Amino acid sequence: MAQIIDGKKVAAEIREELRHKAAELYREHNIKPGLAILLVGNNPASEIYVKMKIKACAETGFHSVVEREPDDIPESKVLDYISKWNADPEIHGILVQLPLPGHIDENKVIEAISPEKDVDGFHPVSAGKLLLGLDGFVSCTPAGIMELIKRYGIETSGKHAVVVGRSNIVGKPVANLMARKSKNANSIVTICHSAAGDIGQYTRQADILISAVGSPLMIKKDMVKEGAVIFDVGINRVDDSSAKKGYRVVGDVDFDPVKDIASAITPVPGGIGPMTIAMLLSNTFESAAKRI
Ligand code: GUN
Repeated sequence: MAQIIDGKKVAAEIREELRHKAAELYREHNIKPGLAILLVGNNPASEIYVKMKIKACAETGFHSVVEREPDDIPESKVLDYISKWNADPEIHGILVQLPLPGHIDENKVIEAISPEKDVDGFHPVSAGKLLLGLDGFVSCTPAGIMELIKRYGIETSGKHAVVVGRSNIVGKPVANLMARKSKNANSIVTICHSAAGDIGQYTRQADILISAVGSPLMIKKDMVKEGAVIFDVGINRVDDSSAKKGYRVVGDVDFDPVKDIASAITPVPGGIGPMTIAMLLSNTFESAAKRI
């Protein structure tokens, strides 16, 4: 039976640390970390994520502003919000919740955010710095995985890390972080994706398996090597008539059977999700602290 990697607990510890650090920053320098969020449309998942981010800011003693706009907002208005927040000294982090409606160019919006306030780590400058091993904002979910590796003392050097999924938000950055020549990384990394055909051929080789595809229960027991460490980034809703809400949330990994052969595994919910929010707060704090 695998050790459960308790992201919820670690995230709560990080948030408590940040609450103290934020209070000190305010006491000594009169700076309160500030996060601005733009939510466009009414995607139910985005609504939930944004609500959690606002609540997290309030509980950590951060300042937050949220603007909600309908689906048909012109792109120019989105860019106006970003210009305003780029210039606002009380805002240290800017987050445009994705996805955006089809008529808005997501890349253009991301590129409009000042790299100094890019707490999501999506700007090309942040992505480039990550690739080059320079200091910059790291996308929150990959940063959360790396933090769990560090805090749980998971051996990574020379291990084979297999990343399933090649998104800009998770797959690509986490693969780069794992391959970095540094402590708690230095892994041999494979990225696999939909063109792999038989994904199991790759995942079975993983000492560390990171799944970020958004495909419910796709990683089965026979696709996992005995003793592997599993990070499940998937947050998928599946119909469940026995659940109160009519659905339940599952990961990319078929948790119950897989936990019997893995050495450690993140649950869904309560694994990576809370860590993503903790790292958003951490990035926002770091951005604010640079103002000293
Ligand atoms: N949509 C899904 N995940 C994220 C995230 O981490 N940041 C933003 N901005 N949008 C998202």
